Amino acid sequence: MLYLSLSWLLLVLELGLVLGSKCPTSCQCLAQEVLCSGAGLTEYPDNLPLDTRRLSLAHNNLTVLPSLELGLLRDLVFLDCSHNQLKEVLESTFAGLIRLLNLDLSCNQLTVVGPGTFSPLHGLLQLNLSHNPQLQTLPPNAFGNDSALQLLDLRHAGLHRLDRTSFSGLSALNTLYLSGNPWSCNCSLLDFTIFLLVKHHSYPDELNATCSEPVEMAGWPIAEAGNPLRYLCLTNLNVLDYLFLFLIGFCIFVGGTLAAWMTGVCAVLYQRALHTAEEEDEEEHLWNHSRMQAGHDSFPHFI
Ligand SMILES: *[C@@H]1O[C@H](CO)[C@@H](O)[C@H](O)[C@H]1NC(C)=O
Ligand SMILES: *[C@@H]1O[C@H](CO)[C@@H](O)[C@H](O)[C@H]1NC(C)=O
Ligand SMILES: *[C@@H]1O[C@H](CO)[C@@H](O)[C@H](O)[C@H]1NC(C)=O
Ligand SMILES: *[C@@H]1O[C@H](CO)[C@@H](O)[C@H](O)[C@H]1NC(C)=O
Ligand SMILES: *[C@@H]1O[C@H](CO)[C@@H](O)[C@H](O)[C@H]1NC(C)=O
Repeated sequence: MLYLSLSWLLLVLELGLVLGSKCPTSCQCLAQEVLCSGAGLTEYPDNLPLDTRRLSLAHNNLTVLPSLELGLLRDLVFLDCSHNQLKEVLESTFAGLIRLLNLDLSCNQLTVVGPGTFSPLHGLLQLNLSHNPQLQTLPPNAFGNDSALQLLDLRHAGLHRLDRTSFSGLSALNTLYLSGNPWSCNCSLLDFTIFLLVKHHSYPDELNATCSEPVEMAGWPIAEAGNPLRYLCLTNLNVLDYLFLFLIGFCIFVGGTLAAWMTGVCAVLYQRALHTAEEEDEEEHLWNHSRMQAGHDSFPHFI
């Protein structure tokens, strides 16, 4: 009897061990932590334990992240996909990772970040998008729902421009890396640079985050480009502006002349009217006077 229950217990333990030790080949599984760095993976690994909290896929050759499989890891808080060949992350890619705190997508070949890609990540604290040299811009409202995000690394990401609205939801942001990007500091970037000026985030690489074009702005730190840009964009006039100003001036001139003429005409008419009224008044006065003198105060008869 005792023997039977013991072997039963062993069987259960063994089963539990087999279930618990589910681990992708070529990865290393510790307690709720799976390390697949440098494992030569070209595809997302099978057999990941569903209770994984930390997953490192760094230094492999992944080209896509499958949203369905990734979405099964409901407890994931840390995901490192740096140093891969990822080309795009889409709206669905991280849809299931509601507990994620730290996401590293650095050193990939990202060209596309879909709108809303990061919006399911309400608790995200750190996002590293650095060293994606083909990523020229980010969609408007890219971080719309990441109100917890504190650190955003956008170094060496090939960014020319960013929309100010990309940052509208980032109320907790305190550290922003922007260096190593070929920023186009023209009037399209005005809103973003003014946002950088007024928000007073910490820019640890501020002096290296400089505009690369146009020539008159080359070398300016982007975090301080708001003021010169405001000056350039709000006072720099082109031929059309001058034509417009000339037209406005002409209109004002014509309007003024017309108004002066009208005033003159009115004045003359008024003078004339006043004159005739005075004459009439005088006549009436004379007439009343003569009546008053003639009859004995006929006024009370009217009442
Ligand atoms: C992964 O990519 C590196 C660099 O592109 C290459 O040298 C290596 O052969 C690739 N490995 C595999 C397994 O495809
Ligand atoms: C982002 O990733 C790059 C490259 O992997 C790394 O050098 C950098 O330190 C990371 N940024 C932060 C803030 O950890
Ligand atoms: C933010 O989240 C809410 C609710 O989850 C959603 O309706 C909204 O579209 C999201 N905003 C963005 C910019 O994704
Ligand atoms: C500013 O530069 C960007 C990127 O080079 C370009 O797409 C945009 O049209 C430019 N805007 C203006 C107002 O010149
Ligand atoms: C700025 O760039 C120089 C040269 O690339 C580098 O040595 C320095 O560490 C950078 N400074 C910061 C704050 O990133």
